[in-house]
Formats: sequence, C-alpha cells, structure tokens
Amino acid sequence: MADHLVIFDTTLRDGEQSPGASMTKEEKVRIAKQLEKLRVDVIEAGFPAASDGDFESVQAVASVVKDSTVCGLARAVETDIARAGEAIKAANSGRIHTFIATSPIHMEKKLRMSPDQVVDKAVWAVKRARDFTDNVEFSPEDAGRSELDFLCRVIEAAIDAGATTINIPDTVGYNMPHQFGQLFHNLLENIPNSDKAIFSAHCHNDLGMAAANSLAAVRNGARQIECTINGLGERAGNTALEEVVMAVKTRQDIFDVDTRINTREIVNASRLVSNITGFAVQPNKAIVGANAFAHESGIHQDGVLKHRETYEIMLAEDVGWSTNRMVLGKHSGRNAFKTRLEELGIEFETELELNEAFIRFKELADRKHEIYDEDLQSLVTDKNIQRVENVSYRLVSLKASTATGENPQVEVTLWINGNEASALASGSGVIDAAFKAIESLVESDACLQLYSVNNVTDGTDSLGETSVRLEKAGRIVNGQGSDTDIVTSSAKAYINALNKLLTDGSKAHPQAPV
Ligand code: KIV
Ligand code: ZN
Repeated sequence: MADHLVIFDTTLRDGEQSPGASMTKEEKVRIAKQLEKLRVDVIEAGFPAASDGDFESVQAVASVVKDSTVCGLARAVETDIARAGEAIKAANSGRIHTFIATSPIHMEKKLRMSPDQVVDKAVWAVKRARDFTDNVEFSPEDAGRSELDFLCRVIEAAIDAGATTINIPDTVGYNMPHQFGQLFHNLLENIPNSDKAIFSAHCHNDLGMAAANSLAAVRNGARQIECTINGLGERAGNTALEEVVMAVKTRQDIFDVDTRINTREIVNASRLVSNITGFAVQPNKAIVGANAFAHESGIHQDGVLKHRETYEIMLAEDVGWSTNRMVLGKHSGRNAFKTRLEELGIEFETELELNEAFIRFKELADRKHEIYDEDLQSLVTDKNIQRVENVSYRLVSLKASTATGENPQVEVTLWINGNEASALASGSGVIDAAFKAIESLVESDACLQLYSVNNVTDGTDSLGETSVRLEKAGRIVNGQGSDTDIVTSSAKAYINALNKLLTDGSKAHPQAPV
C-alpha cells in the first residue's frame, strides 16, 4: 500500500506573508472552510503572536474546522508558544509548529546565538509546546543552507524532546532538486531516531524550484509537503499545493504516495484565494491557470478530439474545471440563488445579508444575462469588502466621460467620514482620471505600485475584478473591487486600499529577530 503524504497548507500563514495579502478573520475562516473541503490534512492558520487579530483568526479557524488539524506557528520563545497553545485549544486536532534558525548566517547575524544555544532553545521549545499538544512540529529555519552535521544534531534532539514532525525549510529558495532530495536522504539515514517523526518539505520558489524540490524530497522519504494555494507566499511564493498534489496523482509510477485531497475542489480553492487576496492567477499557471487545459493550436485540438491522451495528461474535471458552472439569470429565484451559494460553500449569518446579496445578484443579472459561479463568488467577496464598517471612505457615485482626441474626465463623489465631497479630474486615461479625482479628495500621498483588472467570466459583459496595490511609508496594502464597469471597479479597489492604509497594520513578522 502507498504511504500517506500529509498535505500541510500554509496559505493563511506563509501565504499571508506576501506583501499586501493580509486577510481579515472572516476571510481566513472562509478559506479554511474551503481547505477543509479540499481535505488538506493540516491547515496552518497563522502566527498567533503576530497581533491580537492573528490570534483571534487562528482561534476562529480552530473552532470551525473539524476535519483538518489546525496549526499555529510559534518562534522558540515562551510568549509565542503560550499564545499558539491558547489559540489552537478549541481545535478537534491541534498542532504547534515551532522553529529556530540553524544556518551559520542566521545563527550568527540574526539570532546572535551559538550553535549550542540554538540546540538548547530548540529542545526547550519543543518540550514547552508539548505542554499544550502531543502534535508538535519543529523546523530548523534555513535548513537548506545549514551544515548537515549540525542539522542532524538539532533534529535528533528535537525528536528526543517530543517533536512528531520535522519540517525542512528551504527558506530562501536556494536549493536545487538533486541537492534537496539528497539532504532528505542524508537526514533520514544519519539521524538515529528519524523513524520517530514524519519528515516534511517546506520550499520557497525564488529560483522556480519549489514544486520540484518538494517532490525530490518525497522521492527521498519526506511524507509531508508544506504548500499554499496558487503558490502564494513571500517573495516568489511557496510550493503550489495544486502542482504537487496533481504531480503525485498523475505520476503514480514515480511517487509511491497517496494524498486524501479532493482534487475537484482545487479550482474553487484557487479562485477563492485569488478573489480574497487580489492576487490574480496567471493564465498559463499549471493546473489552475485559465489556459492550463485550453488547446490553442489546430494540431493539438485535432489530436485531443481524436484521442484525449494525445495531448492531455490530466482531466480538467478532476481539478474542478467546469464541473459546476450552473448558470443563473434574471429569472432565477431566491431559492436557486441560495442553493447555489450553499453548494459553493458561501453562507450568510443573517437573512438580511442573504437578502442584500440577492438584491445585488438581481442588479447584476439586469446588466449581465448569464450568471456563473465565478460571478457569485466575486459578488459575495466584493460585498464583504465594501460593507466593512468603520471605514473612512466610500464611493458614492462616479461619472466618466471620454472622447477620441480628448483627455478623459472623471467626477467622483466620496463619502468621507460622514460628509460627501466631489472632485473632477482629467487624466491620460479614464482610470488615471478616476484615481486623480479620488486623490484630490483624500490626499493620501500613497504610491500606486500595481494595478490590474481581470475579467471574471468570458464576454464583454463580464464582471471586472480590480486589484490596486498602494505603498505608504513602507506599508503595502492591496485593495479589491468588482463591477461590470471597470472604472467603478477600479475606483472601489483604490478606495478599499486607502481604507486599509488607515487601519492599524502593525503585526510581528515571525522571521524577524525576537
Ligand atoms: O520558510 C521558512 O523557513 C518558514 C519557517 C517559519 C518554517 O516559513
Ligand atoms: Zn516559509
């Protein structure tokens, strides 16, 4: 029988460390529920010591998720471990993931600790975490650049202290697959008690090797992969869950392991994460990109029509493409709307919220004939974004005019802390004019770092989802907006980002020195 490969999803923790990808508690709970539906074994729900908000998010995920283990990250310090222990208390199955850096450069320059001190701290941290749960994971941070003998020493001690999972992070994405595979081989061979723990791979994608490195680790004995939906994560991101899961499923001839992932939920998970974070999925992204199963060239199309396997190694339906594109329209009733939302895992806390969503659905159906699942998801996400209370700015109305040979003009009316104000601006394009009009009212001084619009479905009547990234004084936020009119969608996204800039974003970064 094939070994079980544990899928440990860290979208809500390492994924959230992407600049601008921070999520609210409600958003994290929505993603966690989808991860549970996807049947991931472990959900790393956050770093509870980062802030009160992060603590509450991990607590909320721990209390709603029943079928996956919920994990909290903690540096090897008392406050972090106690906080993580408290946050996962409500979980059916809870894990603490504690870590300390082991590479010479991190020990010397970041921790300013000797190797002996690091071993003592690791042992202490694992034992302390065991006071809260039997399920303790230990990571030697920057293992990919650590010395093998020292790595063996610290891991052996961590297992003796009670660690049940040993995670090997390639923190800076420096390793090549043959090296990373060899590292696992060496660790499993040389550490006398290696059979007492599950070994795990945690790879970053700085050189585009994250999935390849994780799979090389599996070939050499790793039985857990840490990954994120869409490969979200700091810098170039983490290993993409969809890539490693489909690789082991498709190449059973090479990988003698099984996951329990319900692969038909992969596309839904990808859309939800992209929707909530505003990080678009590139069209040619493996598995979840819009073109991943599209055959452009005539030769390919001919081959696929004659015999699918000529050019297709996976079924689009197996990862959740186009299995559930039930169409709703302006004549669909409240019941059909509610049923479809439930099937998509979208629930409302009150009847009032459902009624509001239904009104928005009807408004959309007046402008767009066929409403797909993607539209419903976008509609609900946009509603959550725009309805946030205690915001300083809201879009009241917008009027745009554009003509060939003339500079477009946009007049914007905003609600600003209880008062309405309007401004007219012209720009090189209509979006430029809209943003200038908003800026002339709010004078944020923020710098626009990224702007993108994606159509949610095919056709020119599609909802356009806009992402805006703003930077101010080193703080980066992403704003999202959705509308069939892209100027409105863009203005909503810009205002959403401005509101985020005004919130208290201070939280500790887990990899910063304690
Ligand atoms: O990349 C890394 O080293 C991490 C650790 C906290 C496990 O994310
Ligand atoms: Zn990481």
